[in-house]
Amino acid sequence: MTALTVRNLQVSYSGVPAVARYDVELQPGSLTVILGRNGAGKTSTLRGIVGFLPGETGRATGEIELLGQVVKRPSPLALSRQGLCLISERNKVFTGVTVADQLELISPNARAQRRVLDIFPRLAERLDIRAGLLSGGERQMLATALALLREPKVLLVDELSLGLAPAIVHELMQRLRTLADEQGLAILAADQAVTASLKVADVVQVMDDGEVVASGPIADLDVETVLATYLGQETV
Ligand SMILES: Nc1ncnc2c1ncn2[C@@H]1O[C@H](COP(=O)(O)OP(=O)(O)OP(=O)(O)O)[C@@H](O)[C@H]1O
Ligand SMILES: [Mg+2]
Repeated sequence: MTALTVRNLQVSYSGVPAVARYDVELQPGSLTVILGRNGAGKTSTLRGIVGFLPGETGRATGEIELLGQVVKRPSPLALSRQGLCLISERNKVFTGVTVADQLELISPNARAQRRVLDIFPRLAERLDIRAGLLSGGERQMLATALALLREPKVLLVDELSLGLAPAIVHELMQRLRTLADEQGLAILAADQAVTASLKVADVVQVMDDGEVVASGPIADLDVETVLATYLGQETV
């Protein structure tokens, strides 16, 4: 069964279009990456899917099917209960709360906590530290761990690489690949880290000015042309 289908998603702010049309089909165990420069519409796409747009100005329309069920009115909380989690671009963790307490808040189940700490052993060494004192990479790990505690089938990840050194970006991207391979998660990640994304993704969608301008399995894409035409100079 297809994990997530999005058809003709359109997002606008105060009537100004940010995403003209977006379609995707995610299979279990697959990793799709949306690449695009600043302002291309990546965050708007992910937030549009989960219905998490600024209340007064943001508007999203389109068809969404999650695990075979049509989603009529998407909301982050309802979707999280149905198996889809978004790790958002900013404010991913509560800075004043310790790692241990944040895990506990999501799931008091010690075995479930152990499972996610096994995926991110570095967090296991930081349990008593408030998230505000973690490094950027460790914060991303915590945000991912918190999402995984909800046992999603579909994971949307916005800008995992934000502000991180290339080595950490590669490590985190590799973790996403492993989650898809070993746990069968369907993952849709939006990122500007071109090299790291191309190493792990099955499918790439290049977004420019609110539209997907090139997409397909990595093997079918003319990566050089896509990079030069739509993404300018790569960052990672
Ligand atoms: N809350 C908002 N109100 C009005 N316009 C917005 C809002 N959020 C985003 N936009 C506009 O929508 C367009 C797409 O922005 P979006 O944040 O989706 O891009 P992005 O690809 O995620 O960029 P970045 O790489 O910088 O995160 C931009 O033109 C942006 O100015
Ligand atoms: Mg963004």
